[in-house]
Amino acid sequence: MKILIMGPPGAGKGTIAEMLKENLGVVHLSSGDILRDAIKENNPLGMKAKAFMEKGVLVPDEIIIELMKEKLNTDDSILDGFPRNLAQVKKLEDANIQIDIVLNLQVNEETIISRISGRRICEKCGKIYHLKNMPSKKEGICDICGGNLYQRKDDEPQTIRERLNTYKQQTEGLVNYYNDKGILKNIDAGGNKETTYDKMAGLEWLKKKKYR
Ligand code: AP5
Repeated sequence: MKILIMGPPGAGKGTIAEMLKENLGVVHLSSGDILRDAIKENNPLGMKAKAFMEKGVLVPDEIIIELMKEKLNTDDSILDGFPRNLAQVKKLEDANIQIDIVLNLQVNEETIISRISGRRICEKCGKIYHLKNMPSKKEGICDICGGNLYQRKDDEPQTIRERLNTYKQQTEGLVNYYNDKGILKNIDAGGNKETTYDKMAGLEWLKKKKYR
């Protein structure tokens, strides 16, 4: 089964995807994490992507498609951040990769900005924290692996605005596309992560899969 998790920047896609991964035993494929790993490893595609990410715009399709292509064949996975425009949707469909359900996280802009500006991430294991909403026990240090917590470069205020614009112009249209296919579920994701997760876990599709 392939689950696509959608929503604006900072909606909580990565946080919820990690909860689904733990509870369902599926793979979490985050295109943003895959790009950030490629940059860390000095991969030439990652180096080309870096400037686009820092500006808050989409990286060119050929870069992200090349980085994602082998990983997309994994069964039972959660796609987080890919596809992000119609060209990427078409690429998946041409490769006969079917998305079974799309979870669309809905959050207002004020919440988005507060979530993104307080986000901190472990540089070693990637665990996501928030200064107020989900703080680590020891400031600046990951509870799980002891790694240092950092703020993403694209989480600065002017880049957040650009990412929101990019989302509205290029990604939001996919909500209608998947709604027309009858596989979209809108989830009010404005509450805490447990409340949001419970809304998804209560959906019939998940109960049918006997994942809980
Ligand atoms: P990507 O990494 O995918 O960024 P994004 O879509 O902007 O989403 P975020 O990672 O910012 O947020 P999220 O929704 O996962 O929220 P999170 O769970 O962290 O992409 C980055 C860049 O890569 C793009 O701008 C683009 O350049 C490039 N890119 C990626 N994919 C691409 C593609 N397919 N094509 C082209 N370019 C691509 O939560 C945010 C914060 O809120 C955290 O601090 C968390 O602790 C907190 N939080 C989460 N949920 C809750 C809650 N329920 N209550 C309270 N706090 C919460």
